[in-house]
Amino acid sequence: MSRKTVADIKEMKEKGQPIVMVTAYDYPLSRLAQEAGADILLVGDSLGNVVLGYESTTSVDMEDMVRACAAVARAPGEAHIVCDMPFLSFQISPEEALRNAGRLIREGGAQSVKMEGGRQVVPTVKKLVESGIPVMGHIGLTPQSVHQLGGYRVQGRSLEEARRLLEDALALEEAGVYSLVLEAVPWQLAQLITRRLRIPTIGIGAGLGCDGQVLVIHDLIGLSFGKPAKFVKRYAQVGEIIRQAVADFAADVREKRYPEPAHQYNLSPETWEALQKALESR
Ligand code: KIV
Repeated sequence: MSRKTVADIKEMKEKGQPIVMVTAYDYPLSRLAQEAGADILLVGDSLGNVVLGYESTTSVDMEDMVRACAAVARAPGEAHIVCDMPFLSFQISPEEALRNAGRLIREGGAQSVKMEGGRQVVPTVKKLVESGIPVMGHIGLTPQSVHQLGGYRVQGRSLEEARRLLEDALALEEAGVYSLVLEAVPWQLAQLITRRLRIPTIGIGAGLGCDGQVLVIHDLIGLSFGKPAKFVKRYAQVGEIIRQAVADFAADVREKRYPEPAHQYNLSPETWEALQKALESR
């Protein structure tokens, strides 16, 4: 069983097959998402918010990403695994970006990496692609720039911003990205960008006109806290199930209903008798 390649992902656009991407940060969710048929698993730096409890993704570092990616890659399946390059792992220089991307491939087991940013990351994208590392781009709302953007806001609403995003998308395609995430942009602009590109776009809060869709898995299954973004659709309430399961366990422990006989280990009657005799004679 082999994993989907960047060529497979690009072919999906040509064939008009919608691309399904979800985030994953650990072995169990990687395994379940692949059993459910996800085409791509994104080891997103959203790990920082949804799993590590940070305020923003800017606190996530290379060690966090390498460890999470390796756990995701250990789960069997056919999904393509793309790993986010965390804040400051690619902005300093293309050489440092190459070193860090290499770690995500070699130690993390990713098949490609994702990088946030428009035209400013073109030299770095080129360096990685020339070195044999496929890159997924990410424009629109780029959470690593939250402080510069002034919050988690929809991008590309004005004519000027929309033009800039289209130019960024074209520059990234030209630089060699194999696909592009469009986050929190009006659907009309996302559709226009998707039609202008040969590579697939994967939308999150970017409407139906993209070639694929991605959601943070904890949002999708109801395991995240706070008010979800407008584009999130919850397909399950796993948080509720966990809360209830732990509350039931706590009640059983306190009422001495757990463990039941079926959950205990037994000595054989002979050993038990011999043990009691031995202890009595001491
Ligand atoms: O880190 C992440 O989860 C992402 C998605 C929101 C695309 O970058």
